[in-house]
Parts: sequence; C-alpha cells; structure tokens
Amino acid sequence: MSVIDFTPKVIPSDVFQSLKNALNLPLSQTIQNTTIEIPDLFLQWTNHLRDELYSSKPALLVRLSEADQKNLSLDAFRNYTVVLGRALGVLLVQNTEGDKLVTVYDRDPNRTMAQGARYHQTHEGGSIHTDNVNIPEPWQYLILSCLQPAPVGGENIIVNGDSVVELMKKDFPQYLKVLESNYWWEKRGVSDELYQAPIVTYDKDGHAQFRHLRPYMESAHKRADQPMSAMQIKAIDILDAYLNSSDIQARFTMKAYDVLLSLDSRTLHGRTCFADPADSIIFTEWSKNPSAPKRRTMERLWIKESV
Ligand SMILES: [Fe+2]
Repeated sequence: MSVIDFTPKVIPSDVFQSLKNALNLPLSQTIQNTTIEIPDLFLQWTNHLRDELYSSKPALLVRLSEADQKNLSLDAFRNYTVVLGRALGVLLVQNTEGDKLVTVYDRDPNRTMAQGARYHQTHEGGSIHTDNVNIPEPWQYLILSCLQPAPVGGENIIVNGDSVVELMKKDFPQYLKVLESNYWWEKRGVSDELYQAPIVTYDKDGHAQFRHLRPYMESAHKRADQPMSAMQIKAIDILDAYLNSSDIQARFTMKAYDVLLSLDSRTLHGRTCFADPADSIIFTEWSKNPSAPKRRTMERLWIKESV
C-alpha cells in the first residue's frame, strides 16, 4: 500500500525556455493546430515524465522554477500546459461545446452537483473520482494546472488505485468482485446517452484501473430505470470509505503555475471544498482588473496516448 509522494518536480530551466516560441503563440492555435512544433529537449523531458508515471508513481506534481515564473504571462502559462499535453498525446474534446482545454472554477456558488451541475463548475468537495466517466473509450493522462489557488480550501486529494484494490482484496473480496462488474454511466456534459462499464478493471501489468464518480452513476441508474442492487450500493460505500481514509490519501495544495499530471484511471482524485474571496473575478477579467481578488481557477486537459 503506498501513498504517492508529491514532492514537486521542478522543470529544468533550459527545458522550459526551449518552449519560448510556442509560449508566445495565440492559445487557440496551440490548442487547435496539431502540427505545432515541440522542441526535442521538451519532448525528451516529457518522455521521462511518462516513464516515471508508468514505472514508479502514477501522478506527479510539476513546478516551474521561480526564475521561470517571473514575468510569465497567464497566456504563456496556459500555452505551456497545452504543449505539455500535446507532447504526451492527443487532446480530447471534453464537452458538447468542443472544448479541449476546460477551465475549472465555481460558476455559481448557489448551484450544486445534486442540482445537476458538473463537479468542475462548483466549489464542492468530496466525491473522490476519476475523470474518465463521460467517455467510454480509454484515455490515459489528466492534466490539472493551477492558475489561482483559493484563499481557503481546495486541497487536492489523490489516492493510488492499487492501494484501494489491495485493501479490498484482503478485507472485502466479494465486494471487489461487484466493482469489477457493470454499472450504468451517463455522459453528462457530452451527450444524453447512457452506457455500462465496471468501476474496476485491470491493465496488462495488473494495475487497477478505475472509473468512478458516484453522483453521475447514481443519476445514470435512475435514468436507466435500473436501481442499483444492495450489493452494488454497499460496494461503492466500501470504496468511498477507503477513498476517504486519510492513511491512503495524499493531500497537497497547488500553487499558481503548478501542474498536476496523472494517469487518470490509476489514481482517484478529489478536492476539499473551497471558498473564493468575496467579489472575486473570473480569469477572463483578470487582465482588465489586476488588483481585484481572483477566483480559484484550474485548467484541465484529457489526453489520449497517440499510437
Ligand atoms: Fe476530476
């Protein structure tokens, strides 16, 4: 059983500076133009990250050196995140609007997931999950980049999926079997369709691969008119109890310019609830009003390994 160590990994300055040209491109071009040139030095460094994810720990916190953060514009940082994603694979569309880079911030402090909001548009905590719930096809990498932390809360919680399976194998093997069988899922935010898939599967090396976001599953079972069995509910209760156990959680707060890179299905993530400053403004207004308090803002990429 292992708690992932999130000591930040600082990107070497020469590697970051090799991106200078790409960082000055318009963001829309970095996102849409698949032929964008990525320097070899940066690609090599990304390959090291990939190796580390698969061989030693399935999630990494990547930080810019203080020198590289100095005078870095918001757009340049956003470009860096997108180029990192592109160096790893193909950026996936995450919603019906066709967005490949999705901004995560509280749209409306009065709207909750119970009322149908998507997790990334609220300030709620809890629901430790994977992101690979809306799209049935497998993809590998999740990137979360921090544009602005909250003054209070919003701590990241990461659990190694293998640790949960190891514990359930020992203490609740019959319920682990239930998680390995189909549940109903919805593609909230992507389409109205429903589909079926297990919560736990295994990759070719035997690592546990999770698909888990309880509120979406509960809603899908309701919509499919297929109530979960008592065994299915109990199995998720046990899973959630493990995910909420402090002895297997890694917790840390991201700073502005930090990037969290993870193998989405091998780790489960969540956050504590947070509160934005009163009268905080959303990121599109920051440049017009630099002295106003900023709303907590992260950006998200879903990446499929190109084959
Ligand atoms: Fe998420």
